[in-house]
Amino acid sequence: MSLLRSEPRAVSADGPTHGSAEDTVLETERLLLRMARVDEAAALLDFVVRNEPHLAPWEPARPPGYFTVEHWRDRLVTFRDLWLAGSAYRFHLFEKGAASRVIGSIGLSNVVRGAFQCAHLGFGLDHASVGRGLMLEAVNATVAFAFDRADLHRVEANHQPHNLRSAAVLRRAGFEIQGYARDYLFLDGAWRDHVLTAKTRLSR
Ligand SMILES: CC(C)(COP(=O)(O)OP(=O)(O)OC[C@H]1O[C@@H](n2cnc3c(N)ncnc32)[C@H](O)[C@@H]1OP(=O)(O)O)[C@@H](O)C(=O)NCCC(=O)NCCS
Repeated sequence: MSLLRSEPRAVSADGPTHGSAEDTVLETERLLLRMARVDEAAALLDFVVRNEPHLAPWEPARPPGYFTVEHWRDRLVTFRDLWLAGSAYRFHLFEKGAASRVIGSIGLSNVVRGAFQCAHLGFGLDHASVGRGLMLEAVNATVAFAFDRADLHRVEANHQPHNLRSAAVLRRAGFEIQGYARDYLFLDGAWRDHVLTAKTRLSR
């Protein structure tokens, strides 16, 4: 029996069909989204070094060794294992025609299965690539992956109230505001309030 897109359901009969990170590439008009290979750790390090002041206000404190290629090699191995376990899905953003330069990162983390089938969405774009609507393409592709391949029902994305760019991207991608959480995440040296937004498979 084929299910209508809007028909309520729990989880698919077959569960997630996310395959392996190595075999998954999402294509948008201008981007390729795929997890960087372990041998591309230096390209990831280059991305985080180039964007340290741009991304630091929105991300957790950097652990020791964060700015080393060994850290990114280890992290890519962990990302791959989490993917295989269906616990988190990480994509790196490559602009078509510049396939070895990482210009962003987007991920579904904290996957909870069972009656919730939910994950948190997070993202960051190279400071030199903002203002062109690239992250909207990446968010739309990642959310489609979440619903169609990772068998998720709900994707939550939370942003600081003054992060107007992030708010605009999420609004355009169809995320709805669910509430406001005080002292939600410890970022940039303090507990920060966040606007809570979400999108469900039934609402797309
Ligand atoms: C948030 C981020 C991913 C946005 O990516 P992007 O693809 O460059 O998005 P754009 O700059 O094209 O802007 C998207 C929207 O914000 C609007 N915008 C651009 N500059 C803005 C500004 N200074 N103030 C308010 N809105 C702005 C654009 O008009 C666009 O709105 P629209 O889609 O309704 O037309 C990027 O700015 C980034 O990496 N920021 C740092 C990390 C971060 O904030 N991560 C998210 C944490 S929750």
